[in-house]
Amino acid sequence: MFPIERPRRLRRTGALRRLVAETSLTPADLVAPLFVAEGRDAPRPIAALPGHDQHTLESLVVEVRALHAAGVGGVILFGLPATKDDLGSGAFDDDGVVQVALRRLRDEFGDELVVMADLCLDEYTSHGHCGVLRADGAVDNDATLDLYARAALAQARAGAAVVAPSGMMDGQVGAIRTALDAEGYSDTVIMAYAVKYASALYGPFREAVGVEIADGGDRRSYQQDFRNRREAWREARLDVDEGADIVMVKPAMTYLDILGDLRREVDVPLCAYHVSGEYSMVKAAAANGWIDGDAVAVEQLTAIRRAGADFILTYFAREVAEALNP
Ligand code: PBG
Repeated sequence: MFPIERPRRLRRTGALRRLVAETSLTPADLVAPLFVAEGRDAPRPIAALPGHDQHTLESLVVEVRALHAAGVGGVILFGLPATKDDLGSGAFDDDGVVQVALRRLRDEFGDELVVMADLCLDEYTSHGHCGVLRADGAVDNDATLDLYARAALAQARAGAAVVAPSGMMDGQVGAIRTALDAEGYSDTVIMAYAVKYASALYGPFREAVGVEIADGGDRRSYQQDFRNRREAWREARLDVDEGADIVMVKPAMTYLDILGDLRREVDVPLCAYHVSGEYSMVKAAAANGWIDGDAVAVEQLTAIRRAGADFILTYFAREVAEALNP
């Protein structure tokens, strides 16, 4: 007769538990999404994302200094232009708000932390879609690719180490890689929002960037259907074949099965975006005293790492990084 199995033996002390932990979470695993607004003289708090602001250039730099001091791995910028138009010109204008901010961050931080730019049109288009519209109102995939290529070049010129196409147009990674290489930006990394579901969890983000989709529209003709799992492998495989250096799954908590799948399917780095709604739910419940928000944040981010993400884009980046530091 063998003695009974005792897995609890390894859980007896904190030191033992730390020694055998399968998953780690460090500040370097976190990327902070940041919002920068054009033509403002003061930062403006975002009600639905407690602790986050629509930044001015100055307040952006102050925030990035704090993130850098806390040891976060990187930042990803989203822009709020002063004016919008049908094409979303602010996304590819060299003087667009994100390009100006990228130059500023590059001057101040160089390559000390990874500076990324979200690459999409929706914050810049008057209709709020991620691409340009045909006369019948549908999003024109291939016409949009040309604008994404121009946006990638503008971001690379401004000093982005990583460009992150998030519009879910077919062929976007290949179009961007080709344009970057043709202009000598072969070192610019492409982090593809490869698997991006049409999710109700983006609600607070749309408030953060002031995006409303015209005529009560939605993104279901380009973002993925949350009933589908196999489709995620296909999207990721296509992006890797087109030259994606890093692939992303978004949102995170409701899609851990997809993360687990992709960890087995692809050999490039994999990240997850813990999105605005995921953050706001924790904040709201914590504000009501219903959960311990700090503990839930660490539990969720660790679970995302456990499922297979190498790093995580999260609005918790600063507070969790600061809490993880001694
Ligand atoms: C689109 C984009 C969105 C987010 C990141 N990039 C919104 C959308 O697809 O509607 C959402 C991020 C979040 O909710 O935190 N450019």
